Amino acid sequence: MVVKTINNALKKRKSVKLNQTMTLMCFVLFFVGTAMGGELRTQQKRMLAWEAQMEAFQSALYRHDFKKMVGAMAVIENSGPVNPKVLEALEAGMEDRDFGDYKKLDRYIHGAAGLVIEEASEGNIQKLLVHQGRMLMACIQCHDQFLAKAVNAVQHNR
Ligand code: HEC
Repeated sequence: MVVKTINNALKKRKSVKLNQTMTLMCFVLFFVGTAMGGELRTQQKRMLAWEAQMEAFQSALYRHDFKKMVGAMAVIENSGPVNPKVLEALEAGMEDRDFGDYKKLDRYIHGAAGLVIEEASEGNIQKLLVHQGRMLMACIQCHDQFLAKAVNAVQHNR
């Protein structure tokens, strides 16, 4: 009788322990999942930041405020490369050629921002407009060619 009671108590303890382990595992999976999803959403955050700077640039442009133009472009120029996790997902989910072009277009934005900064620092409105125009074309070119593919690649590699 005593042995049976002890055995039952041990069984109960085991199942409590199992429950605790399961709960812990769920938490761990939840946090890992959220962290991964968060990282893969960095591309969208980066885009929203670029959009905000393009808008800030545009309103500085109407006011001939070269200092603000330089400031906005500097944020884009220094926004760093595409997040490595995003790159990994893009590489896995896109054709090699598309992936190569995607990276080139992204790099182009940084280079163009640098050229706009050079011209804005000199107060050269005509030339800075040429570079900003090319930059804008690269934004749209990437969206036209790769936005859907990129979003798809990232979603499938979650
Ligand atoms: C190399 C490719 C590429 C270039 C270049 C690029 N984008 Fe994007 N953009 C994307 C992708 C991919 C998305 C979709 C992001 C997502 O939802 O995960 C996107 C989405 C966006 C969005 C929509 C964000 C939202 O969800 O509401 C804005 C705004 C945006 N980009 C602005 C810009 C601006 C401004 C530039 C140029 C300065 C630019 N993009 C250049 C790839 C690019």
